[in-house]
Amino acid sequence: MIVCVCRRVSDRDIKRQAQAGCISFDDLQMETGVATCCGRCGDCARDVFAQAQAHGAVAMIHGHPAQGSASLALPA
Ligand code: FES
Repeated sequence: MIVCVCRRVSDRDIKRQAQAGCISFDDLQMETGVATCCGRCGDCARDVFAQAQAHGAVAMIHGHPAQGSASLALPA
């Protein structure tokens, strides 16, 4: 699904960035350009990013870290 029409960023792109260690929405914007033009996609992009981060954290808890998500590890 395309999240950001202006920058052609999909939900998969956002999830990929979260799995690669992108830890803030600002970082996501720098990497993808999402929500940096008209801004209409901002809320949706933030939701998709938050879900991707939550999924990565749950994967870490269950011992199945998403690729490149070591920065999402929870403290012991
Ligand atoms: S739709 Fe994402 S900045 Fe316009």
